[in-house]
Amino acid sequence: MATRGLTPEKNAEERTRLWQFARETGMTRRHLLKLLSAGGAAAVLASCTGLAPPTALPSVGENSSKAPLYFKDPTPFIDHGAGNLEARLENMEGLVTPSRFFFVRNNSERLDVDAADWRLSIEGDAVANPLELTYDDIRDMPSRTYISYLECAGNHRALFDLVKGKPAKGTQWKTGAVSNGIWTGAALRDVLVRAGITSEANSVLLIGLDTGAPEGGFRRAMPVEKALDQDTLLAYGLNGDPLPKDHGFPLRALAPGWVGAASIKWLGRIVVSSEQIWTRNNTTSYTLVGDAYGQEGEAPGKPVTSQTIKSALALPWPADLAAGARSLHGYAQSPAGPVVKVEWSLDSGATWNDSTLEEQRIQPEFERLAEALGDDAFRYSWTRFSFRWDARPGEYTIMTRATDAAGTTQPDEIPFNEKGYLFNQPAPHPIRVA
Ligand code: MTE
Repeated sequence: MATRGLTPEKNAEERTRLWQFARETGMTRRHLLKLLSAGGAAAVLASCTGLAPPTALPSVGENSSKAPLYFKDPTPFIDHGAGNLEARLENMEGLVTPSRFFFVRNNSERLDVDAADWRLSIEGDAVANPLELTYDDIRDMPSRTYISYLECAGNHRALFDLVKGKPAKGTQWKTGAVSNGIWTGAALRDVLVRAGITSEANSVLLIGLDTGAPEGGFRRAMPVEKALDQDTLLAYGLNGDPLPKDHGFPLRALAPGWVGAASIKWLGRIVVSSEQIWTRNNTTSYTLVGDAYGQEGEAPGKPVTSQTIKSALALPWPADLAAGARSLHGYAQSPAGPVVKVEWSLDSGATWNDSTLEEQRIQPEFERLAEALGDDAFRYSWTRFSFRWDARPGEYTIMTRATDAAGTTQPDEIPFNEKGYLFNQPAPHPIRVA
């Protein structure tokens, strides 16, 4: 395996040097070769220095600057038009959502970017050393690989109408604007440090290259604390492959635990400002506007940041089942760490039964990534739950309700907001049994 961008002679020299270095740290030759083929010299150095687990991206896309996979065929999804594809949770058998089933949310055109021409600029009045980085620059930085769900702020929006009889504006997602992937990337923090982020920094604005989006590039600001969180990634890998183009190839942000809108795809520019930044996506959009919410800063409501705790059954809506005893399953997720309990109710929440939480284990098809997962790799993962139900002929609704490690449980009721964000009261799933 050649180290990228070097002549054969330089390559041999580089490999000898790496081998000497790796041997001093006690690494076997076999492990060295494995790391080299998984992530090149950067993976070996990262492993030797303990900086980060190696990147285990396979060679697909390694020598190509083109986006490797998809624009997705809408067939396995609920198609909301304009490239917005709702995942069918019933397609998901294991913990990790295969990339081909991962939901897609685009606010304007989707992009096919050539990574060879692509650059990421980091600028603003709160960096001392404005930078421009290439795809290889980012991939050569220490990497992290972990599992995280990504969920649209409007997931469950259709339930405002179905449950409360009051429609909210926006794409009428039911429960599938969420998926759970294995992400690989560099820490945004490392890039900001390289650009000399100053102590004056207040807001970090991430801007996509989709110039058809309002404001000329879909964008979202986050406070500097979230940008410097070690888990906020500049992700170039999903489920062991380079990012599919639907999900932002060559590079996207991943702000785990936050609403999906903060995880900017096709990232092109980062602006670090000493002032708080207000743009469309934390003022007129992605804010909770309604009787229960006050105004905040320049926003007419409360800007949405973190996601809320939710659960859903992995069944079509409505579901048609044959009578008989069966196991039903679903997924539950919370931004505040793992879900510790999921209950289910057949009587609109009057009584609740415990479900079984399944072990956090990745499916065999992703096992090649197991070594790259750090200790804390499941912190932002959703949890798969299941329970047995003796389905007799008739019409039912089943509700599920999750509780997380911080003790937060899904509320019985939430107030309406005009754009239908963060619906998280238990969803009454309609089921017909024949
Ligand atoms: N980034 C860009 N550049 N353009 C977009 O339209 N949509 C955002 C976010 N990042 C968007 C974007 C929204 S609203 C969501 S929910 C997530 O991407 C969806 O990510 P996915 O399509 O990879 O599932």
